[in-house]
Order: sequence, then C-alpha cells, then structure tokens
Amino acid sequence: MSERVRVICPLNESDERTLADDVLDGLTRPFKELAPKHFYDETGGELFDQICDLPGYYPTRAERSIFEADGAEIVAASGMAELVELGSGTAEKTMILIDQAAAAGTLQRYVPFDVTEAMVRRCSEICGERFTDAEIIGVVGDFERHLEYIPPPIEGAPRVVALLGGTIGNFVPGSRRQLLRAIAALLRPGIDHLLLGTDLVKDPAVIEAAYNDSAGVTAAFNRNVLSVINCSLDADFDVDAFEHVAFYDRGQEWIEMRLRASRAMHVKIAAIPLAIDFASGEELRTEVSAKFTPQRLADDLGAAGLKLEKTWTDSEGRFALSLSSPVV
Ligand code: AVJ
Repeated sequence: MSERVRVICPLNESDERTLADDVLDGLTRPFKELAPKHFYDETGGELFDQICDLPGYYPTRAERSIFEADGAEIVAASGMAELVELGSGTAEKTMILIDQAAAAGTLQRYVPFDVTEAMVRRCSEICGERFTDAEIIGVVGDFERHLEYIPPPIEGAPRVVALLGGTIGNFVPGSRRQLLRAIAALLRPGIDHLLLGTDLVKDPAVIEAAYNDSAGVTAAFNRNVLSVINCSLDADFDVDAFEHVAFYDRGQEWIEMRLRASRAMHVKIAAIPLAIDFASGEELRTEVSAKFTPQRLADDLGAAGLKLEKTWTDSEGRFALSLSSPVV
C-alpha cells in the first residue's frame, strides 16, 4: 500500500550537470546571462520569501487577495480534485486555494513540484498535516525537463495544473509558448485546466519599485546566484563586486535584472572548468520577468492549444489568475 504523503525524487547525476551546462552556455555568450531557476537554493528561497513581504513587491499580495476573494469560484469552475503546482516553493499562498477545494469536498490530491528537494519535502509534510483527507505527492524536478515524472491523473477526477506567482514571466516569448505547450499536454480535454498567474502591464514606476527595494533584499537575491555558483561549482566570484540592476523595458514590457561588474574581474569556475573575464561596468543578465496584457495572455495560451475560460484580477487590477483548458 502506498503512503498518503510521499515524495518522488527522480533526479540523477546527469541532471546535476545542468547548473554547469547552463553556466557554461550562459557565461560564454556575447551578452552574458544566467537562468533565473538557479536563484533558488535554500538561501535564495528564503530571500524570495523576504521579497514577498516587501511593501513594494505587490504580486504576491495581489495574487493572495484573488485566492481569498475568488478561490471558491476557481474551485467551482474547475471542479478541482487534483492540484499539480509547478514551482510550488513553500506553497504558502496556494494553501488558501487548497483550503477551498477541501471545503468544497472535491480535493483528492495535491502534487507540489519544485527543484529544491528540501523545499518539496517540507511543503509535502505541512500539506499532509493540513489536508488530512488528500493524497500528497511531492515531485522534485525542473518543470522544463521533468514533467514526465508527474503521476498520471486520477480517472474521472478534474486536474488543475497551476503555474503561479508570475513564474511564466521568467520565460521569453518563444520558450514561454514551448512550456505552455508541454503543460497543455498534461491536460485532458473536457476535464482538466491550467491555472496561470500573470503579473499585468501597469505604470512602469510601480513595476520598477517592486524590483528595487531600499532594504537591498532584491539585490541580495540577485547576487545570490553567484554564491550558488561559488558553492556548487567551486567558483571564485567576488559577489560584493557586482551591483544589482533592475529596469522595466517598455518595448518588451518586461523587467530585466542584471548584475553589473563594478571593476574588471577574472573569474575561475573550477568544476567546469571555465575562466571568464568581466570588463568594468559589464552586465550579466540574471532574469527577465514579463508583464502581460489580456491580449498577450490569450495569444500565448492560444499558441499552446489552450482556450482562456475565465480571468480573475485583484481589486487594483495589478495581477491576473486565469483558467484555461485544452482545445479539443
Ligand atoms: C518568482 C519569477 C515571479 O519575477 O517577480 C522577484 C522573481 N525576481 N524579485 C518575479 C523575482 C525579483 C519573481 N518570480
């Protein structure tokens, strides 16, 4: 008999190569860059949680307010028996939604999926205690590569796959549509739904303030990616010699975060091995966080074979949660 609460950890040695592969690929490009998924080691996860509490970082509070106001409606519209959450983190906000599914009596299973094993274990334990009538299956993996490890859906039970918090914004238009297409493949037409959280286009000053806090938490989060490389790949980045840069690109309608070298540097990454030079003032791109218009959202979903069914926004129109389903 299987345990009601369990964690699947299918990663092997070749998967642990991805940081090295990504670093080699990203840092040897004409414009250096690093993928934002590498922000989230234990420290990075904690720093992100601190970001969510910052007065200027509105997306988390806006999304939570939608769960509080419209969670019951989201559960009713989807029939949510199973929730698969990609990039679940601590699932702190998500639990508000799962509470609604439990209260409605539809909840059978929650599947938190994340890259950090400790995070998945902790989240699965907490959810196991909170949702005593549901099965909890944590999956440790990278949702760009390991969606196949998600257990098959329960027959006849509506599944909702969720990508919340605006995480989809980390993907540039081409890879965004690829990811949405891969997620759509997990959905059975006529029964399952995608629940997508997207930050909305708004006054650039409001957006820029969310990524430039005076306490320096976002700067620490940004620089932490260099600490991750120092620890995991035996590198010698002087982390404090990089300045946090975040600006809203009005043409692309996305935030770009970068790290700017405050002086010329020679960095060695022993585990690859790789040696790279930074010119004084050179910038390394660490994140893109795209903002959405209703049109962009509908177009991206449509390109992935999904049809937008309903959108909920917070009272200030800052953030949207949308439910969509595969086109038959
Ligand atoms: C977790 C990707 C939604 O883009 O707003 C927060 C990450 N970066 N502050 C975002 C982040 C800087 C966040 N996402």
